[in-house]
Amino acid sequence: MTDLLSIILAAGKGTRMKSDKIKVLHPVAGKAIIKHVLNTLDGLNSKIVNVIGHQKEKVKAELEDLDKWDLNYVIQSEQLGTGHAVKQAEDYIAGHEGPVLILYGDTPLLRKETIAEFVKDHQQNNFDLTIMTAFFDDPEGYGRIVKDQAGNLTAIVEEKDADPEIKKIKEINSGVNCIDSELLQDFLANMDNDNAQQEYYLTDIIEFAINKNKKINTYTVQDSDEIIGINSRKQQAEAEQILRERIIDQHLTNGVTIIDPNTTFIDAEVEIEQDVTIYPFNYLEGKTKVAKNTVINQNCKLKNAVIGENVEILANTIIKESEVGDGTNVGPFAYLRPGSIVEDNCKIGDFVELKKTTVKSGAKVPHLCYAGDAEIGERTNIGAGTIFANYDGENKFQTKVGKDVFIGSDSILIAPLTIGDQAKTAAGSVVTKDVNSGDIVMGVPARIYKSKKQED
Ligand code: UD1
Ligand code: CA
Repeated sequence: MTDLLSIILAAGKGTRMKSDKIKVLHPVAGKAIIKHVLNTLDGLNSKIVNVIGHQKEKVKAELEDLDKWDLNYVIQSEQLGTGHAVKQAEDYIAGHEGPVLILYGDTPLLRKETIAEFVKDHQQNNFDLTIMTAFFDDPEGYGRIVKDQAGNLTAIVEEKDADPEIKKIKEINSGVNCIDSELLQDFLANMDNDNAQQEYYLTDIIEFAINKNKKINTYTVQDSDEIIGINSRKQQAEAEQILRERIIDQHLTNGVTIIDPNTTFIDAEVEIEQDVTIYPFNYLEGKTKVAKNTVINQNCKLKNAVIGENVEILANTIIKESEVGDGTNVGPFAYLRPGSIVEDNCKIGDFVELKKTTVKSGAKVPHLCYAGDAEIGERTNIGAGTIFANYDGENKFQTKVGKDVFIGSDSILIAPLTIGDQAKTAAGSVVTKDVNSGDIVMGVPARIYKSKKQED
């Protein structure tokens, strides 16, 4: 749409978070803060320059799946302020004509529609500089927007440099700016760090532009929540709540029933089809997908799970990095660990744990079972209490159970093991050798010792 250059500032450590992890990598609704910021550029067709410093390799790794975008990186090795951060992208700015959009990497609530409107407003009016602002009842910590009596912007004053009068101003700087490339280059060559924090402030560009008689404007965003910047865990928690409400609203609009929005936690990238019902106290995390007509009962956690249509997930079930096919029932109290695939029309019942296990269509593992590194064939029934003993203390081994097999209750299947189609094991069998198709395995049946009385 536009010939735009965007610069994202993400080099700071975020000391106020009190964390070993840098601020922009902290999640809000399950997604790194910086990724929320980048997503606002989706569809703008912009060249993007990320200014990184602390934990730069981790930031790059986090953004790896955006590799189709025109993503570039510059490094700010010492964090000397937001103006200094932008200066690291000087080569990109010099090579670009027209507007440069600058975003701070710590504002995850911005909407992409807002950014698009903001850029459009800047371009259509041929402004040299536009600052996005908002009104906050509690503006503490933000740069204040100072205007003259005619309402023209005269300066942005940081909290630490503000006198009591300026601190009363409720209009604040969001950190979102659109600046003409030439003006920006001129400023970067001339800025200083003459302020309380001895930092090179990008916000000093206001006074610089005024002195050059540039065309300046402020753009006020209606929903002030959008420009909440995350500096502390408290702000992170606030942002989390706001974003989660937005996500829930979106799913309700799309035709999902959510019995209690207050106790339902859905991450930003989760996809849910219509007529899904979600009971209270559920967590749907990561890139989980749920297809239509599925019911998720209370107290479940689904992380990067792919759930088919008409599935019923019963209470207290955990599904991680696994797939569940159409028409299958899972739980209550089931645990599907990473790498499990349960196909269509299966039943995985209570107290069943699967790990890296494929359960083929129509098979049943109805209760009390551990299956690891296994494949269970079509329509096979695994009796209660069956254990797939996949580990000998040193190595893990595979078990393959064929189609239409009947595994009796309390069987122990010692891997590596193959059990052929239609085979049967009697209750309590310890199976140590491969079983051919159709064969029956019997364990040692319990002996019966007659009581003395009967012997007489
Ligand atoms: C900044 C603004 C303030 C505004 C607020 C909005 C300045 C001087 N202040 O303050 O007016 O109200 O954001 O949220 O611009 N960064 C770097 N390198 C640096 C310094 C910062 O990359 O040397 C990055 C940080 O990683 C962060 C962003 O820039 O993502 C903003 O920096 P931060 O320290 O959070 O600025 P604020 O004090 O919040
Ligand atoms: Ca900030």
